[in-house]
Amino acid sequence: MVKVHLRKITKENLLSCLSLQVCEEQKNLVATTVQSLAQAYVDPNLFPLAVYDAAACGYEQPSVPMVGFTMYEVVAGVGFIMRLMIDCKYQRLGYGRATMLEVIRRLKLCPDVEVIATSYRKENQVAAKLYQSLGFKEWDIKYAISHLTEVYVKLEEWKSEPLHS
Ligand SMILES: CC(C)(COP(=O)(O)OP(=O)(O)OC[C@H]1O[C@@H](n2cnc3c(N)ncnc32)[C@H](O)[C@@H]1OP(=O)(O)O)[C@@H](O)C(=O)NCCC(=O)NCCS
Repeated sequence: MVKVHLRKITKENLLSCLSLQVCEEQKNLVATTVQSLAQAYVDPNLFPLAVYDAAACGYEQPSVPMVGFTMYEVVAGVGFIMRLMIDCKYQRLGYGRATMLEVIRRLKLCPDVEVIATSYRKENQVAAKLYQSLGFKEWDIKYAISHLTEVYVKLEEWKSEPLHS
């Protein structure tokens, strides 16, 4: 199974991050990394991360390329996966699914997170199927009503039961 390594964006890997591109027909589905990094610069609740193959783990200067980008937000008890994109050259190799699994793992470790959620544009069938297969179900949250082009989903049944003494 493909595994990924997520790493902060630094001055060493910034250019690779800015060069990431989705396929032409996907450009209206996700913000550019420039936009995402600008948002993260002004919002401390956002966590932008570069996606590498797991082979990059342990290497300050990885010999494998950056394959994608993800960004999540932790606000009001919700860990919200705001961005997921895999560069067009590296799509359909398992990196998108592996990135979601790794972000979910991280969010589950965060004590502030009670709900794990994400969203996608209505026409994005690839994202819809991927998120559904990971256990995301439609999320009935009020602000979804004002975003008619977006589908909001949350991960069901992930919080472990509290320990009983
Ligand atoms: C969505 C996205 C991140 C998936 O990345 P990926 O690395 O290609 O995904 P994976 O290789 O892990 O594949 C995940 C599943 O999607 C399917 N899939 C991926 N691209 C597909 C395509 N173009 N058409 C049909 N199915 C596709 C795969 O077959 C796989 O299905 P399976 O698990 O049932 O076999 C990538 O297509 C992307 O960056 N899209 C543009 C941005 C976007 O839509 N982001 C998500 C919403 S914000």
